[in-house]
Amino acid sequence: MSEEVFKKVVSHCKEYGFVFTSSEIYDNGLGAVYDYGQNGVELKNNLRQYWWKFMVQMHDNIVGLDAAIFMHPKTWKASGHIDGFSDPMIDNKDSKKRYRADNLLEDKIAKYQKDGNTNKADELQNALDAALLANDLAQLKTLIEQHEIACPISGTRNWTDVRQFNLMFSTEMGAMAEDADKIYLRPETAQGIFVNFLNVQKSGRMKIPFGIAQTGKAFRNEIIARQFIMRMREFEQMEMQFFVRPGTQKQWFEYWKEARLKWHLALGFDKDSYRYHDHVKLAHYADAAVDIEFDFPFGFKEVEGIHSRTDFDLKSHQDLSGKKMQYFDADLDENGKPYGNYIPYVIETSIGLDRLFLYTLCASYKEEEVGEGDKKDTRVVLALPPILAPYKVAIFPLTKKDGLPEVARKIIDDLKFDYNCFYEEKDAIGKRYRRQDALGTPFCITADHESLENQTVTIRHRDSMLQERIPIADIKSILDKAISWKDILSK
Ligand code: GAP
Repeated sequence: MSEEVFKKVVSHCKEYGFVFTSSEIYDNGLGAVYDYGQNGVELKNNLRQYWWKFMVQMHDNIVGLDAAIFMHPKTWKASGHIDGFSDPMIDNKDSKKRYRADNLLEDKIAKYQKDGNTNKADELQNALDAALLANDLAQLKTLIEQHEIACPISGTRNWTDVRQFNLMFSTEMGAMAEDADKIYLRPETAQGIFVNFLNVQKSGRMKIPFGIAQTGKAFRNEIIARQFIMRMREFEQMEMQFFVRPGTQKQWFEYWKEARLKWHLALGFDKDSYRYHDHVKLAHYADAAVDIEFDFPFGFKEVEGIHSRTDFDLKSHQDLSGKKMQYFDADLDENGKPYGNYIPYVIETSIGLDRLFLYTLCASYKEEEVGEGDKKDTRVVLALPPILAPYKVAIFPLTKKDGLPEVARKIIDDLKFDYNCFYEEKDAIGKRYRRQDALGTPFCITADHESLENQTVTIRHRDSMLQERIPIADIKSILDKAISWKDILSK
């Protein structure tokens, strides 16, 4: 899919109520913040549910949590975010624009590749990896100068030094500014899980290995906002921390690496659109890390990270809070002795819901030639897995009169407890079908005059566009067969 089609996906999102720019009426909106519209929120809820059902419902040793966004500020000291959660930034002195130094270099690598200059691309990639690994900011600037990278706005190479900028947003808690304490908007949901580790373990009588899963908003003051909802300042994460016995982390890392890719593949999109990317530079808390990347129209990009976080977080919280974060393991080791007290090791799976949403749209968006001769036309269809579609079924009366709206309404009244239904009586039937195709609705049902005589309707299938006549009494069982969580959860 080309960048051209990506532009179409972005405008489709606005035109069909999937995603809007936040507070757009003011100066074209707030940068890198987006609102989900009436159809977007349904798709997003369904994707979140797919994750939750797989992680929590399908694993009897994983439970959920909904921790607060605000946390005690010491949380972020312990986690390392106050001291180490920053990006290397560089300013152009003429345009006064700020860039991520590593992004400027990555763009240059992509340009070398596009121009067929693979030696130079590899050489720069290796130098960039080495500079990032050593946290060598001066070397990043040297690379930018050596490769003659200019500011895209001013066109000049008049750069400042590379400096680290913290990505956390802060605010004050308390009524009086004088008494206020600085607190942070969480940059990841994971820490809410770590500080509740023993609460959940004890109250749920959980035995290691076990996991705690959570979905929720996270906030990062991303300097560079790019590619629509790919990099946002307010976004949603779906994270799971899996607590394991020390020494077993490698095996569990491999288990989750495979399980998570399988979960992505069960969506049914092209399997070549996914790949693993091993981390060269490990985060301060990790002893192994891999990304699952998706082939977006602008290239392969990270959608999910699987991290072996060691005992770093629990240990840091124990040290700073003075509260024990130990687990008592009564199982017997090879010498027949209980494993006893220890701080568990953690495997984390962390996926961005907005990135999942974006790739689902990119993979589903299709422009198809339909009809023949003078009736030749192009239709836009979102070939979403039926269970994820915002509406599962649209019900149309053929005309607005003769009792047909009543027949359609009655069908909705029977289905609406189980399925999100769409009612529409305006426009010609073909136009109504096209609109539902663009929303990804898998089935359209039309009540016509024959419905009044023999209690039948036509059902039209989104992908094949085939229509068949069926008894009204059969609608529910046809939908039940075609739309089920089991289809993707059992793959
Ligand atoms: N707890 C680990 C953690 O937060 P991360 O790699 O920084 O790891 C995990 O983030 C996932 O969150 C990413 O794979 C991505 O899908 C999503 N994510 C991170 N920053 C984002 C942003 N600014 N906008 C949208 N999604 C983002």
